[in-house]
Amino acid sequence: MDGRQEGQDGGGSSGGSLILTNIGELATPLGRSARSGAQMGQLLRIKNAGVVVDKGVISFCGEMSDPAFCDKLDQAKREGFPILDANGMACAPGFIDCHTHFIFAGTREDEFFWRANGLPYMEIHRRGGGILRTVEATRKASQNELLELGSKRLESMLCQGITTVESKSGYGLDLDTEVRILETAKALQATTPVDLVSTYLGPHAVPPEFLGDPEAYLEFVIHTVLPAVRSRNLAQFADVFCEDGVFDLEQSRRYLLAARELGFHLKLHADEMAPLGGAGLAAELSATSADHLLKAADADLLAMARAGTIAVCLPLTAFALREPFARARFMIDNGLAVALASDFNPGSCYSQSVPLLFALAVLYMNLTIDEALTGLTLNAAAALGLAQTTGSIEAGKKADMVLLDAPSCDFLAYNVATNLVKTVLKAGTVVYTRA
Ligand code: NIG
Ligand code: FE
Repeated sequence: MDGRQEGQDGGGSSGGSLILTNIGELATPLGRSARSGAQMGQLLRIKNAGVVVDKGVISFCGEMSDPAFCDKLDQAKREGFPILDANGMACAPGFIDCHTHFIFAGTREDEFFWRANGLPYMEIHRRGGGILRTVEATRKASQNELLELGSKRLESMLCQGITTVESKSGYGLDLDTEVRILETAKALQATTPVDLVSTYLGPHAVPPEFLGDPEAYLEFVIHTVLPAVRSRNLAQFADVFCEDGVFDLEQSRRYLLAARELGFHLKLHADEMAPLGGAGLAAELSATSADHLLKAADADLLAMARAGTIAVCLPLTAFALREPFARARFMIDNGLAVALASDFNPGSCYSQSVPLLFALAVLYMNLTIDEALTGLTLNAAAALGLAQTTGSIEAGKKADMVLLDAPSCDFLAYNVATNLVKTVLKAGTVVYTRA
């Protein structure tokens, strides 16, 4: 049976103190910004490692035989300081899911089977299905219903080792429901140890009340909803579904410029189904990330590398849509920083599976396990503006870590699609243990 531990550290802010001993292998990227290109494959790996955590923050990470660690451990034993014996398990930074749409009501399993029979995702969207069906269900849902759904989904993330997650709005589209979704995320933060980062995704689809008039909807978004979200401090990022038949390049640029003016950091759903040039726009605007990128052009990806815009690849979505995967190998070989995320949502990707994500990244996108781990930790932190404080195991960072029921982090790929997470630590507090 799985279970959350007592005494969890809501939001991970206060932080626990402990010493972690006998780590079979510790693997982590290093740094306080995204690793790009060849750096993505340069993990620090330490056998027989130990970690010291003071009030939620890592103060030492190194070999157990290091004299500094031996002194700490001796002192800890004398003073009854908490010690957690990893018993040879592998240890990695807590995973960070930097692109999800996890607050929504209703499901769309029928669409999954229509797509399996060959109906394209965008054709369902054009017929008024897709996102708008979830909008209809979400508008009807109370905040309590959204809280309950969101909280169950967070539990599922936590037991797969996710310690930080991004949450997009975009299933309300009207002011009230967008605010309700973002406030749900805020309320969930008080109940979960997982750190939440919110993104406003108003331009996700044109709602029924603006049917056929995307321009009018965009005006409403820019002049009514964006300022309201900003003044209530409900989201740090603004995102747009820049896609053929949804919001074009010019509309996306206008919205993103308005958002930037208000102080939002920028993200784009870019070049997912059609090569519209969203990746190039992301580079032009120095967006924090451009996500999906299944059809992104070489020149636009190279522009992203120059701009330092992170490429968020979403293998579970490509897999569920049966589309060719994003060209992460090309991206890394050309100096981009790649992050990996689930894109969990009720349409294109009803999966939160971290183990499957690792399998697809390594087996089908040709990432090394070191690159994949960097993508799901430090680079994902950077895609949320959090690389200064989390995403790696090193002195000064928040002690967000997972212990794996395996001797090394290679097993995250090798033990195909299996959840190996045994223990999750958030800011130095054990918040989950699989019995
Ligand atoms: O990232 N592509 C746009 N948004 C989501 C899907 C939303 C939905 O189908 O409900 C995505 O794939
Ligand atoms: Fe998405």
